Amino acid sequence: MLEGPGRASLTEFPRETYPERMSSDVSAQLQQFYDAEMRDRASRPLGDERTDRVTAFLAHCRERGIRSVLEVGCGAGRDGTLIADGGFEYVGVDASREAVTVCRELGLVAAQGSATALPFEADRFDAAWSMSTLMHLPGNALARALAELRRVVRPGGLVEIGVWGHTSNREWVKPDGRFFKHRSDDELRGELANLGEVVDFATWDWFDDGGHYQWARVEVATTTA
Ligand SMILES: C[S@@+](CC[C@H](N)C(=O)[O-])C[C@H]1O[C@@H](n2cnc3c(N)ncnc32)[C@H](O)[C@@H]1O
Repeated sequence: MLEGPGRASLTEFPRETYPERMSSDVSAQLQQFYDAEMRDRASRPLGDERTDRVTAFLAHCRERGIRSVLEVGCGAGRDGTLIADGGFEYVGVDASREAVTVCRELGLVAAQGSATALPFEADRFDAAWSMSTLMHLPGNALARALAELRRVVRPGGLVEIGVWGHTSNREWVKPDGRFFKHRSDDELRGELANLGEVVDFATWDWFDDGGHYQWARVEVATTTA
């Protein structure tokens, strides 16, 4: 199963609002958590749903003649390995230093950086892939991250995004210190429209409290924002 808010954690621990002024604390807490758990994450197998989605993404990329793929929130390089092995030019970016180290040990190209300030020039990539990462961005940072994706992925390129969401918008902090901003399907689709056309959208892994995984395929807009 994908990393995310399991049923137990949502019912056991009350959620709370996370003020935007604490966004630097959010980043620091996330980096600390992911630096510490990255090697363990590397040893965890990908779930069937994720493997199927990566496989379908790569097939779609091939059909479209896509050659270069950026992964935002590359983590331990589990998806990145499949993308690189699929014959694509792969570059991963992650806020966690340890994630970058683990990816490089796997032979992947990876850089430390934030989704909201991608260290790449405009139109550098044909496609981007980002799973279980962008729901960690507080306040309006998702909009900044999507603007960055639109900048570094060429017009007409492809972006696939997966995040943990909910039936209603909410922000909360897990007991392990990680911040989550969950969006409703409509809210997420509204944000994604600023990146381009949402050509496919799916949800799965529904929990009793309304939490679920959201996945979207977006064709990057060809007109200026
Ligand atoms: C739940 S993990 C997912 C990793 C990988 N995509 C996977 O599915 O296994 C979230 C990842 O997002 C990274 N991350 C969190 N906030 C980030 C940000 N603002 N910019 C870039 N990466 C970020 C974390 O360091 C972590 O590697």
